[in-house]
Amino acid sequence: MVEAKSPAAQLEAKIRERTATVGVVGLGYVGLPLLRAFFQAGFPVVGYDVDTQKIDMLKRGESYLKHLGEDFVGELSKSPKFLPTANPADLAKADAIILCVPTPLGKHGEPDMSYIEKSTEMVAKVLRKGQLVSLESTTYPGTTRGDCMPILAKTGLVAGKDYFLAFSPEREDPGRKDHSTQTIPKLVGGTDETSGKLATMLYAAAIKKVIPVDNAEVAEAAKLLENIYRCVNIALVNELKPVLGAMGIDIWKVIDAAATKPFGFQAFYPGPGLGGHCIPIDPFYLTWKAREFGHHTRFIELAGEINNSMPHYVIHKTIEGLNEVGKPLRGSKVLVIGLAYKPDVDDVRETPAAEIIKLLFEHGADVSYHDPHVPLFAGMRKYMEYRMHSVPLTRDNLKGADCVLIVTNHAAVDWKAIADHSNLVVDSRNALSKLLPIAGKYVQA
Ligand SMILES: NC(=O)c1ccc[n+]([C@@H]2O[C@H](COP(=O)([O-])OP(=O)(O)OC[C@H]3O[C@@H](n4cnc5c(N)ncnc54)[C@H](O)[C@@H]3O)[C@@H](O)[C@H]2O)c1
Repeated sequence: MVEAKSPAAQLEAKIRERTATVGVVGLGYVGLPLLRAFFQAGFPVVGYDVDTQKIDMLKRGESYLKHLGEDFVGELSKSPKFLPTANPADLAKADAIILCVPTPLGKHGEPDMSYIEKSTEMVAKVLRKGQLVSLESTTYPGTTRGDCMPILAKTGLVAGKDYFLAFSPEREDPGRKDHSTQTIPKLVGGTDETSGKLATMLYAAAIKKVIPVDNAEVAEAAKLLENIYRCVNIALVNELKPVLGAMGIDIWKVIDAAATKPFGFQAFYPGPGLGGHCIPIDPFYLTWKAREFGHHTRFIELAGEINNSMPHYVIHKTIEGLNEVGKPLRGSKVLVIGLAYKPDVDDVRETPAAEIIKLLFEHGADVSYHDPHVPLFAGMRKYMEYRMHSVPLTRDNLKGADCVLIVTNHAAVDWKAIADHSNLVVDSRNALSKLLPIAGKYVQA
């Protein structure tokens, strides 16, 4: 494939022999499962994170991501093929460095590129001939070539000749049981042909199906398209929810009916608003970049507006439900079920539950919450003043609440107890539909 003994040929041989050391930068929801995929494929791995608590836990064989299980981290920590580190110099040992750092939005909704910039600067300090650098963080098209490459170019090394640079979007869905990092098809795009080929080869050694695309920009834009598609379609059903509700039609039944069509329709479900590190954020990376080219992303902004309004709709339905039993929201005891942004995970990033709790407090409600996966609600970016502990889901707590408000439908919640002992249930997830009619009053939100 490439000239013998060139940096590319040397890296190619190491990948083939699985002696290439793979360094993963940022060991969060994306980085740690990815490191596991390369480790399980037989590669030596270096795991780097600025968070020393995470590194210490990995050294002790303890997992901070419950869904990955302790077994894997225990095995990893005992292996001589694993180096957990908070020392950037250790990345010099890596033949391939994969960046999985956060890409949040800044204060004014603009992309916060500081994590990508800082980690690329750190890679530049150890960059040497024959290394491959792959960015996995979700970002706007042009980041790998336009933001990372200039930082790496300051070393004097040339991409595509001395070192190799690619983008491969992460499609991880934490908590999903039917797919793992290894089975989710992986897109790979290089900033040049050789980089694309080497990155494809590396990923193909650990992941079942790898799809090379023309370049890094196609891979970057494809990831955004996937998430924008979800964001816009969720907004569509969120818009229809109050409309059909006003007509006395159950939107969940409508979606299930439409989903019987074998083509041309994919089911999306309404909810209390968007959460997680991806769908509420990534589309706005494109919105921001589009402005540079004189374009406006009206669909994305409208979807954002509708999705962001959903916590207010849930509050409105709560007020209506309480009103029907002769109570004002002010002073009422509201027990929120579920703080995580989606079922069966402990991830609270951007969770709509936080906004809903804030709005409930602002309306003078007496608020508590129950989440089997999130024992403490504290220290969240926009909600620093809140510090609450999950209360147990006892009969007394349910009976004592004026309203039980369902925000997240975790499998581990005792739904039967909620159905049997609540005075009023406001359900934003259709969680109780199979248990209807319930003992108390039921309101879909
Ligand atoms: N979580 C998901 O489901 C998901 C899915 C697909 C894509 N993504 C994308 O993947 C990227 C990472 O997301 P995540 O969910 O893993 O985030 P995360 O917050 O779980 O993990 C990021 C890790 O990076 C570390 N970090 C921060 N700055 C660093 C630096 N300079 N050097 C080294 N480590 C650093 C943090 O300590 C943290 O451990 C984001 O761009 C995100 O949009 C996430």
